[in-house]
Amino acid sequence: MNASVIHPAAVAFDSIADEYDQVFTRSVIGKAQRAQVWRAIERTFRSGDRVLELNCGTGEDALFMARRGISVFATDASGEMIRSAKRRHLTEAADLPVKFEQIAIESLASIGEHNSFEGAVSNFSGLNCVADLRPVACELARLLVPGASALFCISARICAWETLWYIARGDARRAFRRWPGAANAVLKGHEVEIHYPTVRKMCRAFAPWFALRSIMGVGILVPPSYAESWARQHTRSLTFMSKMDRLLCHIPGIRTLGDHVLLHLERTVEA
Ligand SMILES: C[S@@+](CC[C@H](N)C(=O)[O-])C[C@H]1O[C@@H](n2cnc3c(N)ncnc32)[C@H](O)[C@@H]1O
Repeated sequence: MNASVIHPAAVAFDSIADEYDQVFTRSVIGKAQRAQVWRAIERTFRSGDRVLELNCGTGEDALFMARRGISVFATDASGEMIRSAKRRHLTEAADLPVKFEQIAIESLASIGEHNSFEGAVSNFSGLNCVADLRPVACELARLLVPGASALFCISARICAWETLWYIARGDARRAFRRWPGAANAVLKGHEVEIHYPTVRKMCRAFAPWFALRSIMGVGILVPPSYAESWARQHTRSLTFMSKMDRLLCHIPGIRTLGDHVLLHLERTVEA
């Protein structure tokens, strides 16, 4: 990276990089939520497109896109996540068109002018770790061609499942932790500040360079990942919930109450 700046989120995510695939990527909940994002990726991008991926983690989405002929420049603030992604690339599919580089979302300015992309993807909450999205929008506007699509999957401000789950356990603090719009998460003793922008706030941060095309809920009935042991004991329910989510994910008033919300923004021509 821009290694002169050690990003606090990078330190925190470094500490969980080794176990991330086991705990999330290969979890039944992680797979169910990701399947929904993958359907959107398949609808949005074509073979031959160049996509800039932010907060790529261990490279699950980058490899998915590359297998479909999309050329991916995948970035993450965490050096350990990038190391893991590169390892997977080498062992699983070295011939696929993916490049991994340690770059924080706040450091997109380091990506040179000669790079341009037909799309951007940020999956599972990397953007929630960024305090000020305005400069990010400005840099993405520079890097994305007019008409390009950006798919941003962020943690939602209000997750109905989470609120009900923790109320049922008498834990009001956790039940409402996202509601004020920011909260601290602790990963192996490292604190990260997480922001929960509303859809309106996201749109304001990205205008006028980007316009909202669609909003989709991810993980509305499918629960957040901490319910993994419950989900493993109720696989039929989880399958039913996944199917229901495909119906519920577009309904206004419901689609923003999931664990995540997926925004499809389009790089405007004029701005
Ligand atoms: C929950 S993981 C998601 C990883 C991956 N996108 C996936 O779908 O599995 C969040 C990722 O965001 C990265 N991240 C957090 N803050 C970041 C930042 N400011 N810039 C770049 N990456 C960041 C973390 O290192 C971590 O890999």
